[in-house]
Amino acid sequence: MTQYDITTRTGLPPEMQTLLRELPRDGWQDHPHFARSISNWMGAHGMFRQLGDLVREDTETYLNGDEDPQRYAARLAHFGNLLVRNLHGHHGWEDHSFFPELEAADPRFAKGLEMLETDHVALDALLDRFTRAGNRVVQLAQLDPGQIRDEAGALHGTCGEISGFLNRHLSDEEDLVVPILLHHKLRG
Ligand SMILES: [Fe+2]
Ligand SMILES: [Fe+2]
Repeated sequence: MTQYDITTRTGLPPEMQTLLRELPRDGWQDHPHFARSISNWMGAHGMFRQLGDLVREDTETYLNGDEDPQRYAARLAHFGNLLVRNLHGHHGWEDHSFFPELEAADPRFAKGLEMLETDHVALDALLDRFTRAGNRVVQLAQLDPGQIRDEAGALHGTCGEISGFLNRHLSDEEDLVVPILLHHKLRG
């Protein structure tokens, strides 16, 4: 576990808030450098939160006995795949393109960006676990629907971890990144 581990963090660490203190969240929308690309990037975060909630709620509905197993498995295959594929694409782009650009613009925040990249590694492990459990549910829907319940129970736990992870990561990421973009007038 590192100093900035996502499982123990309660927000963006104070030493990374140099610009956030000058540019607090409630003023972002009206800032003259708040570009459409920033709003799109934050919109993608909103979509990840919604997809995570949707898969978790679907799983709850199924576990409560209010959903047909075939329909549950079909929705899980569709929305689970969307969640995993889009998150991989998004954080791959952040690691390889977006964060290096931010670090070049303001090297003071290298440690913060490194923290976010470490989050992405933790997220990969979580998404792998989610994918394996999700695939088992989808296979059992074909082969042995009576066995889905145990897998769905385990999957529900992983969904809860993903929601907790996304809440922390996306919020800290925005608190670090948006002030850098506004201050340096990047992506405008
Ligand atoms: Fe990220
Ligand atoms: Fe992101």
